Amino acid sequence: MMKNLKRLSALLLTLILAFSLAVPAFAAVNDTGFSDVDADAWYAEAVMYCREHNLMAGIGNNQFAPESSLTRAQFATVLYRIEGTPAVTGTDAFTDTPDGAWYSDAVLWVSQQNLISGYGGGLFGPNDPVSREQMTTIFWRYAGSPTADGASNYNDEAEIASYAAVAVDWASVNNIVAPASAGVFAPKSNATRAHVAAALMNYSRSQQTAPTTPTEPVPAPSEGAKVLIAYFSATNNTEGIANHLDAILDADLYEITPEAPYTAADLNYNTDCRANREQNDASARPAISGGVDNMEQYDVIFLGYPIWWGQAPKIISTFLESYDLSGKTIVPFCTSGSSGIGSSATNLHSLAGSATWLDGQRFSGSASRSTVESWVNGLGLTLTPAA
Ligand SMILES: Cc1cc2nc3c(=O)[nH]c(=O)nc-3n(C[C@H](O)[C@H](O)[C@H](O)COP(=O)(O)O)c2cc1C
Repeated sequence: MMKNLKRLSALLLTLILAFSLAVPAFAAVNDTGFSDVDADAWYAEAVMYCREHNLMAGIGNNQFAPESSLTRAQFATVLYRIEGTPAVTGTDAFTDTPDGAWYSDAVLWVSQQNLISGYGGGLFGPNDPVSREQMTTIFWRYAGSPTADGASNYNDEAEIASYAAVAVDWASVNNIVAPASAGVFAPKSNATRAHVAAALMNYSRSQQTAPTTPTEPVPAPSEGAKVLIAYFSATNNTEGIANHLDAILDADLYEITPEAPYTAADLNYNTDCRANREQNDASARPAISGGVDNMEQYDVIFLGYPIWWGQAPKIISTFLESYDLSGKTIVPFCTSGSSGIGSSATNLHSLAGSATWLDGQRFSGSASRSTVESWVNGLGLTLTPAA
């Protein structure tokens, strides 16, 4: 499995390199960054969104191939990447997915998550193109198989397979999957890469919850609440966001520093590395060097960390358990390769006494100050700069 992860990473790296090396060689690159994606194309925004959020890359040579189809194995891999290629164990039950294929982990993961169950008779059909109704059903399952708040009304409704009916209703009512053409769903047609990119963007935007304003007002004496920004960052991505926050809030900044720093080998998640072992050990509490002076003075703590296998690193648990945080407001934020903040913050709630937690926010490591600023401004906090 680790070998497969390595192969997948190598493949992705090759694609990225092929893409970046190819740029100078081709003059006809559009503003979209792809020579075959016109800036006016209906899917141009989606293609750029997917590239920016690492959801889908090009196919090399400045090409995105918007009209090409995706195979079922490729589509499984797209979803698996969105989840941050979580570790999988076991083998799939399909007879047409050879061991050690580049998509093995992805197929195992999608089948274990019941996102793609295969055709029956032990067949997955890895090299078959994904049809539009299959793509829609898989997205719908990925969304948790929600009920649809209305029904679709395409001219070709009768052609939609019964297994896909609610999924198409849901995708239509929520504008997730665009029609193939006006009034036509074309359920059996191949899903094009342009349509998959558009659905990914629409779905991913539909999941972005507006930041919550706390129901209880954050402690706001006349001069406002006093803020600490505490963060752990093994490779400086989260530190970049913490620095933006510091520039915006002029708060006190505290780096959660491990007593034993993480080496590159400790972070090599393709191996049985220290970070992986800690994440798999519920009782792991890596020691912290130093501490926050006078924690009582703070009302609000922005708490930053990288996502490790979908969760906060265990040193964040050490941090939370080291102080009495009752009555404080904690605002989690994280950086990741592609995963969302998911359950990483809610899983920490029980470690912080009666603190009030706001919804967290995930940033890419390269998020700009203005991105961070618009998030902070949306939180509705009254804050005091550091003395
Ligand atoms: C052990 C380990 C596990 C990771 N797991 C995930 C993951 O599940 N999803 C993801 O999108 N990125 C994952 N990443 C990538 C990091 O979240 C990402 O690079 C982050 O921005 C690093 O932040 P830092 O530089 O502040 O440490 C992982 C990285 C490591 C080292």
